[in-house]
Amino acid sequence: MTSDELRSKYIEFFVSKKHIEISGKSLIPENDPTVLFTTAGMHPLVPYLLGETHPSGKRLVDFQKCIRTGDIDEVGDPSHLTFFEMLGNWSLGDYFKEDAIRMSYEFLTSPRYLGFSADKLSVTVFKGDSEVPADNESAEIWRSLGIPDDRIYFLPREDNWWGPAGATGPCGPDSEMFIDTGKTVCGSDCKPGCHCGKYFEIWNDVFMQYNKQEDGSYVPMGRKCVDTGMGIERTVAMLQGRSSVYETAVFTDLIKKVEAFSGVKYGSDQESDISIRIIVDHCRTAVFILGDEQGVKPSNLGQGYILRRLIRRAIRHGRKLSVEGSFLPSLGEIVIDQYVKTYPELGSAGDIILSELAAEEERFSLTLQKGEHEFEKLLPNLLKSKNPIIPGRMAFKLYDTYGFPFEITEELAAEHGLKVDKGGFDKAFEKHQALSKQGSDKVFKGGLADNSETTTALHTATHLLHKALRIVLGDHVQQKGSNITPERLRFDFIHPEKMTPEQIKEVEDLINNQIKENLPVFMEIITLEQAKDKGALAFFSDKYDEQVKVYSIGSFSKEVCGGPHVSSTGSMGQFRIKKEQSSSAGVRRIRAVLEHR
Ligand code: ALA
Repeated sequence: MTSDELRSKYIEFFVSKKHIEISGKSLIPENDPTVLFTTAGMHPLVPYLLGETHPSGKRLVDFQKCIRTGDIDEVGDPSHLTFFEMLGNWSLGDYFKEDAIRMSYEFLTSPRYLGFSADKLSVTVFKGDSEVPADNESAEIWRSLGIPDDRIYFLPREDNWWGPAGATGPCGPDSEMFIDTGKTVCGSDCKPGCHCGKYFEIWNDVFMQYNKQEDGSYVPMGRKCVDTGMGIERTVAMLQGRSSVYETAVFTDLIKKVEAFSGVKYGSDQESDISIRIIVDHCRTAVFILGDEQGVKPSNLGQGYILRRLIRRAIRHGRKLSVEGSFLPSLGEIVIDQYVKTYPELGSAGDIILSELAAEEERFSLTLQKGEHEFEKLLPNLLKSKNPIIPGRMAFKLYDTYGFPFEITEELAAEHGLKVDKGGFDKAFEKHQALSKQGSDKVFKGGLADNSETTTALHTATHLLHKALRIVLGDHVQQKGSNITPERLRFDFIHPEKMTPEQIKEVEDLINNQIKENLPVFMEIITLEQAKDKGALAFFSDKYDEQVKVYSIGSFSKEVCGGPHVSSTGSMGQFRIKKEQSSSAGVRRIRAVLEHR
């Protein structure tokens, strides 16, 4: 059975049980600051689970795009994915445990629907603790359906409790359904809940009977609800008799493509398999984030940061498999083709998805190798030292100069048995923000608070402009002020007379040549004195701390600055001066833009 067939059967079954099909929602939760992404089908339904009347009634069914970034480190094992599709049925104060479990059992075992053999089914129920009693009721219902006691497991809260996505809200005990693959993986006493791959969790019935309060207490809800979630990819794996989600038709074409790019055969060794799984999982997730109705772009904040992290991790694992050049857009196309019928938004956003994947790939590919090289230089000494921990400032340098999300540095370190000083990284990060803020108050408008790609590129363009003016007009040119918005840069500088059209053209050409050269941008943290000795431009000496950041753009420009900047000039676009005018006596003002970005 394919994903498409499973989706249709599920909806058909629950519609036959008087449920109304509703549409799944965006991956970006509306008005919910507690989580970055929709993590379950119940997420968009929270207000209704809490008592709001749903316009479609009390019995609902749907399929929902979900992302669980908490599972990112588990990706690579047989069952975890960052993106997955969840089928769900809900009772909003209508049926409860008895009907929910009976319907689950029927859908799973009826030959008309999934036709799993009841012998392969194991279930778990809540064991109870000091706050909430054991869920004997659910266990009894399973027994009455013929599931023997040795396949009904009572597990603790960490396994059998569905808490609210945020801190407060509807919650309760749940009952999970597992298919026994029949394999012996980790040992003879393996049981549901173990991640070795023997038991595959495919469905979860949550019985929402409590509303968790701010003070941590559980208040029973008068109107009890049912929330269920069936993972499409896992269920398809079991229906297709596979031992992992990656061996199903969901991933076949993607894995084939990675094999073609890398020349590495899936299944040839464990380490490459993990890289391949990471690549296909992360790429699929990135496509859904980029193609979401809410439209997210890679950035250093919130959802954009997760997106960036996923794309960059996929690229790094691609390089580990010796994939050269661009490969993510080709994978992206496969994902779009596969899902566009079910999720038409991927079609409308198709061009954006592919171009964003390509752009992010280009940005990171340029610095990845240099960053890894930098990292490797450090290794011998670190491995010799008694306390082999990657210093926070190194992790920050990899982040700021080479675009390594912190977690990638952590992964790189772990591959060498090392840890990273997270506290040190956070400190360096805060300092960077402080420097940027200082910059934004005095020099730039828009530091980290506005770190959109365009703003960042305009920061870099400002450095190029400063240097180009000094080359074309002379060393008397000095920056007097700078202001950047996401649309344009404004630059004030000392120069006694109006620039000629020829001089303007020369400055533009010089800058566009540097952009074309795709110069790398480097940052180092040194003292202000050292910066001056190195010939870095710095005109706001009284406002700097003792330690400063110096940004170099190839060998063309070197300037003290809080950043941020692009990692290389190639993708900045076309520099154009829109206006050159007087600002005050002896000071000129240029407004310029970056076009065709
Ligand atoms: N909300 C429940 C889950 O995601 C069904 O497992």
